[in-house]
Amino acid sequence: MENIDIQDIKHPLQRAGGGVGESVSVFAPATVANVVCGFDVLGFAVNEPGDEVIMRITDKPGITISKITGDDGRLPLNPAKNTVSVSVEHYLRSIDRLDIGLDIELHKKMPIGSGLGSSSASTVAGLFAIKTLLGDDTDPSTLLPFAMKGEEMACGHGHADNVAPALLGGFVLIRSYEPLDVIRLPHPADLWCAIVFPDVDVPTREARQIIRKNIQMKDAVTQWGNIAGLVSGLFMQDIDLIGRSMKDVLVEPVRSMLIPDFYEMRQMAMELGAVSFGISGSGPSVFAFTRDEETAKRITSKLQKHLTSIKIGSNGYVSTINDAGPRVLG
Ligand code: HSE
Repeated sequence: MENIDIQDIKHPLQRAGGGVGESVSVFAPATVANVVCGFDVLGFAVNEPGDEVIMRITDKPGITISKITGDDGRLPLNPAKNTVSVSVEHYLRSIDRLDIGLDIELHKKMPIGSGLGSSSASTVAGLFAIKTLLGDDTDPSTLLPFAMKGEEMACGHGHADNVAPALLGGFVLIRSYEPLDVIRLPHPADLWCAIVFPDVDVPTREARQIIRKNIQMKDAVTQWGNIAGLVSGLFMQDIDLIGRSMKDVLVEPVRSMLIPDFYEMRQMAMELGAVSFGISGSGPSVFAFTRDEETAKRITSKLQKHLTSIKIGSNGYVSTINDAGPRVLG
């Protein structure tokens, strides 16, 4: 889906309330998109990191962004250029509430360009904040097209494998983009995730440009066998099947070149007992599934030490799969 046309979307909620001075603070989680073999169709949310949006209703129609922290000045305060305000504006248009005044504070609590769905976390936090302020009790999935619009603005393509899990929580399959068909999948409760972000810049826009445009039938067969195996493993709570299905012959061979010592890190993680290892989203973050917290901690620690030894800074996170999605902080 190259361009999302949402001008005609009529949100089920019409002219909801929300009084001047009311405010809300919302956290939305980071996400691991692709999950190795499911390019653009699979993703899951984690407990940390994530972003926070504080939104207030003001008496002056229009959206302002008064503060952004944690972004080293990289994100625009101009509401016409910021993915949070743009997606919120699309939502307001769909419910015929462009008359409302809003002020937004965005607190980035996760690295930008990390492959952890940084722009999605911000966008989803913003959309969930306005939904909460207006008392919109429709299903959160109704916000998905607006969140995808933010994604399209952030990286030139409106994929949903970050925004859908950030918005709905849990493990999500995008079965189809046209029409949009998003399915929440079960997962073993004891599946842990070790994430390491090597501090090198890999913009999603560029990481999408380098992937192959044509694929061999034999590679396609391998890939859809693995996707089906992963989804079966999730339903069957079969962690071995999940692990052996998480292989990517289409995208990883190309994108791994952008990640320092990718194959060395994979070997280290597998030797320490990882169930699987791969690129998170478009990278440079990498992640491993494990059967327990201890193994996940050992893996993040080992990979971070390795990155330090080759003079690359990093962040490490250990989490289970976050089934809750965004949450109101106050
Ligand atoms: N599926 C997307 C990609 C996720 O791999 O380009 C990026 O955030």
